[in-house]
Amino acid sequence: MTQTLDQPAAHAANPGRPTPVAELRALRKIYYKPDGSVMVEALRGIDVTINRGEYVAIMGASGSGKSTLMNVLGCLDRPTDGLYLLDGQDVAAMSDDDLSNYRGLKIGFIFQAFNLIPQLTIEENVATPLFYQHVPRAKRIERAIETLGKVGLGDRLGHRPRELSGGQQQRVAIARALVTRPVVLMADEPTGNLDSSTGQAILGLFEELHAAGMTILMVTHDPVVAERCLRVVRLKDGLVEYDRQQPGYLGRKAGGAAPAPVPESTH
Ligand SMILES: Nc1ncnc2c1ncn2[C@@H]1O[C@H](COP(=O)(O)OP(=O)(O)OP(=O)(O)O)[C@@H](O)[C@H]1O
Ligand SMILES: [Mg+2]
Repeated sequence: MTQTLDQPAAHAANPGRPTPVAELRALRKIYYKPDGSVMVEALRGIDVTINRGEYVAIMGASGSGKSTLMNVLGCLDRPTDGLYLLDGQDVAAMSDDDLSNYRGLKIGFIFQAFNLIPQLTIEENVATPLFYQHVPRAKRIERAIETLGKVGLGDRLGHRPRELSGGQQQRVAIARALVTRPVVLMADEPTGNLDSSTGQAILGLFEELHAAGMTILMVTHDPVVAERCLRVVRLKDGLVEYDRQQPGYLGRKAGGAAPAPVPESTH
């Protein structure tokens, strides 16, 4: 059953209320040495709620725990302790197989280094996550082509990743993250391997996706990138140093208009 920490099972009846996508309470992650002793306490008690439709930058100095947090949020790693509700479900209670299926349904994840499969064409790369959801092949390719069109790569079908620029490869990775129609898009330094104008174009794409209702969570160490997000959560030594809305954000969006209404998830 879907739950939330603050308002149990109340959201369906209250569409005006924020709907949590990710809720973390007292979350800790400890890396241990092979002898069982503590190596690093990377997250030391994180309390954060991310609601549907938010656009959040996770910032902090090198080693502050950003990637560790993003890997836990992305269900690539499990916390040592504390609670994580992903779209209302307690992920700690799930088996590895259930977690990997649930992750595939809910999360689109974008890596700094793109992580595309070099032997496959871009539409095959984008179609890959649908294979794990047992979507038939013809439908997989159809949806991949449609999603590549949305990220501006409809004219590159049949190409392999090495035939594309870095920015185009990151667009393929974004299409692969979107093709499953996830509830939340998560990215660890998505512009980290790109020159600044290509990075700006990727941020422009994120802003379009956000305006269309997507929830986006992004790690960045770059204040210029974070400046374009709606909210900044800054980590320091494994704790939240501050968590604030960016007051200028709405004013910078098309004449101060509020973001588009957030569509209901298909899951
Ligand atoms: N697999 C691991 N085993 C042991 N310690 C780790 C591991 N991964 C990360 N750490 C440690 O946990 C802390 C947080 O690391 P993390 O990678 O989350 O930092 P970060 O904020 O992403 O840094 P950066 O900006 O350099 O990417 C660091 O002290 C790091 O050395
Ligand atoms: Mg990192």
